[in-house]
Amino acid sequence: MKVVLLGYMASGKSAVGKLLAKELNIQFVDLDDFIEKKEQLSISEIFKLKGEIYFRIKEGEYLKELLNFDKNLIISLGGGTPCYGNNMEIIKNKSKSFYLNASINTIYERLIGETSKRPLVATLGTNNLKEFIAKHLFERNQFYERSDNTILVNNKSISEVSKEIMTFI
Ligand code: S3P
Repeated sequence: MKVVLLGYMASGKSAVGKLLAKELNIQFVDLDDFIEKKEQLSISEIFKLKGEIYFRIKEGEYLKELLNFDKNLIISLGGGTPCYGNNMEIIKNKSKSFYLNASINTIYERLIGETSKRPLVATLGTNNLKEFIAKHLFERNQFYERSDNTILVNNKSISEVSKEIMTFI
């Protein structure tokens, strides 16, 4: 069984995935961490040195590698993973997927203090950030919404979100 957690940056994918994996006693993999290990570079370095297109190609390849592992896994994706190539198709075919749905305000509040590790928003000022999130989320929602389940995460703790997901597994 593969469980995939997807959603916008700062929706809680990694934190929820870690807890969920612990509670279900299943191995957890964060796709961004997996990419960093395989490429021997941080996500920011990959964007800077090799460009976003290279990152998107590798992201798709490593996603497929993980989904083809003959092993139960909880996988948390990067915010953009479902939105490129045929990634969402493959996620739908090979996993049970959960969209962690956070509002623009929730994402903004969580992202504002930690943009530096995220190349897409690292250079945006406070005003531009909210507008960027609103537009970007609008574009990406069509992919996220193809998930098997949508979990609303606003005002919920990591443990509450994890428990809610467990009722569907
Ligand atoms: C990205 C989100 C990041 C990371 C990369 C691109 C995106 O992951 O994959 O910076 O396109 O939204 P998180 O969602 O874990 O921040």
